[in-house]
Amino acid sequence: MTTTLIAPQRFSPSASDESLPLLLKPFTGEVMNRPPVWFMRQAGRYMEEYRAIRSKVSFLELCKNPELSAEVSLQPWQAFHTDAVIMFCDILIPPEAMGMALDFTDHGPVFANPLRSAAQVDALRVPDPQESMPFVMDLIRRLRCELAGSPETALIGFAGAPWTLACYMIEGGTSKNFRHIKAWMYEDPASLHRLLDKLADTVIVYLNAQIAAGAQMVQLFDTWGGLLDEHGYRTFIMPYQKKVLDGLNRTQAPAVLYMNNGAHVLSAVLETTPDGLSVDDRTSLISLRSLANDSGQTGLVLQGNLDPIAMLSRPEVLKPLVQANLKTGGNTNYIFNVGHGLIPQTPPDNVKRVVEWIRSGELTTG
Ligand code: CP3
Repeated sequence: MTTTLIAPQRFSPSASDESLPLLLKPFTGEVMNRPPVWFMRQAGRYMEEYRAIRSKVSFLELCKNPELSAEVSLQPWQAFHTDAVIMFCDILIPPEAMGMALDFTDHGPVFANPLRSAAQVDALRVPDPQESMPFVMDLIRRLRCELAGSPETALIGFAGAPWTLACYMIEGGTSKNFRHIKAWMYEDPASLHRLLDKLADTVIVYLNAQIAAGAQMVQLFDTWGGLLDEHGYRTFIMPYQKKVLDGLNRTQAPAVLYMNNGAHVLSAVLETTPDGLSVDDRTSLISLRSLANDSGQTGLVLQGNLDPIAMLSRPEVLKPLVQANLKTGGNTNYIFNVGHGLIPQTPPDNVKRVVEWIRSGELTTG
């Protein structure tokens, strides 16, 4: 019997490729004068331009209208000159396409009929993204057209990771104690695994469709990926992060895993071998870098990890915090970002300042 080993695809651009947007240069390992900079939730309520559009349409209407969502995606790039545009959408759009009624209220997302039985899991479909979410691929194509004259700017696509999506689908929305998904995990792990596997299949075809439409990097958001201990992480979270990462067309676009609150499981997280790892501010980039080096992943791109709440500080307080963060990132294999999304109270002028400090070389890595 012959066994065929299929090596997972990795993004390996050539450093001599002049056409590479700045965001992708860290993946070549070249030493850089300054890191690329973008912000999670860089489009949103802290921007007046965003609120003006949102006053006319609901959040879901905005997500499904490519003309408006393209405008909103471009707002922070136009206002602050970030090195990347992230498509404007939400991680909960695919669960809606799988068959779950979704609404966004003042208290966040709500699934009217949360998953509470194995029969509901089995009734969910793995949607064809072109058929059920065509507005996302339409948005990506529009944004690439809009950015055609600015090849130094990259376009980012994204999806939620299976575990985080399952948290919202089972809890029905944001949760304090995750009692429904945890009860399910203890009582009927087999059907929870079926759900996570279906979600992984959904996310793989969805992200590959985004890459085919023109996304130049994709980010897999595991906001609740740090919820369990290491055994739980290795059982319910990591296998599905890895399945998604291994299923992506990564020779075309690097895949970045965003792991929130995962400082206690980092060695296991590294075993998922993403092209880039984005972490929140509770993880030190210096210790993460040495862990990655020790595990043989010397070229791993690290992304992060300024506390988004630091972004609310006076400029004279903020500047040394950004400087300190850049020092931990280093001059290669590093993308500057916040450790979690910008919050609505963020002063837009601070976003502008941080981009200017980094772009001008006034603050340096090291
Ligand atoms: O980063 C960007 O600029 C792109 C857009 C983006 C949004 N959501 C827009 C949004 C991205 C990448 C997301 C991802 C997302 N959505 C995550 C993972 C990242 C994270 O923040 O942890 C999660 C967990 C969600 C689910 C979600 N969407 C929640 C819990 C909420 C409510 C909380 C909140 O901030 O209001 C949303 C709504 C949402 N998604 C808004 C935006 C701009 C606010 C909606 C509004 O305009 O009323």
